[in-house]
Amino acid sequence: MRKKCLLIILLMALPALCLAKSEAVPAEGGARIPAGEKYVALTFDDGPRRGTTDRLLDGLKERKASATFFLIGQQIEANADLVVRMAEEGHQIGNHTWSHQRLDGVAPEAAVQEVERTEAALEALLSGGEYWLRPPYGQVAEGAVFRVPLVKWCVDPRDWESRDAEKVAQAILECVEPNSIILLHDIYPTSVDAALRVVDQLQEEGYWFVTVEELLWLNGVTPEAGRMYRTGWG
Ligand code: NI
Repeated sequence: MRKKCLLIILLMALPALCLAKSEAVPAEGGARIPAGEKYVALTFDDGPRRGTTDRLLDGLKERKASATFFLIGQQIEANADLVVRMAEEGHQIGNHTWSHQRLDGVAPEAAVQEVERTEAALEALLSGGEYWLRPPYGQVAEGAVFRVPLVKWCVDPRDWESRDAEKVAQAILECVEPNSIILLHDIYPTSVDAALRVVDQLQEEGYWFVTVEELLWLNGVTPEAGRMYRTGWG
């Protein structure tokens, strides 16, 4: 079950193109997080958004919890301070396209541009790094290849639908298990509340909140190995 969850993450990229990019260095977090514990990864899409993302960062810091943020490129410039803060506080930063474009409904060149424009914005703001991709709606065109790992999820409380912190927290707590990757959106105040509630509860149960990259690393899956999975979506 645990490995299955990791496989559902579906890290996938074209090995040949990967060579053009410098190797992803496994998170240093692997060294500071004790082995053999229960781990879980919170992921937040569609930000950054002032007023919610900053409150979330405050709450995560207070709880010493790490998360992964998949950012929309066109929101980076106006929230550059929040993005820098994410990086400084040990969170993983990923790419959610420039304008939240579905990547399965556009020409391949347009899809690449949506991804690369956000990559360029992040590279200009932060020093280097590799920005893993979460495609909007989890979809990419059949046969599409990207040079970074693609990250899906395995717990989706549909926070955008209910906008109810209690319901969202409950939905997560009901099906979370070690190595779950949880999908949330840090643009809703209710999702921030739910996330912090979940952190409080699961930390009490002995869970550690890590980034996606750390989660893989802690399970012995390096990004390089992850790229070998070409299992498609579903
Ligand atoms: Ni999204």
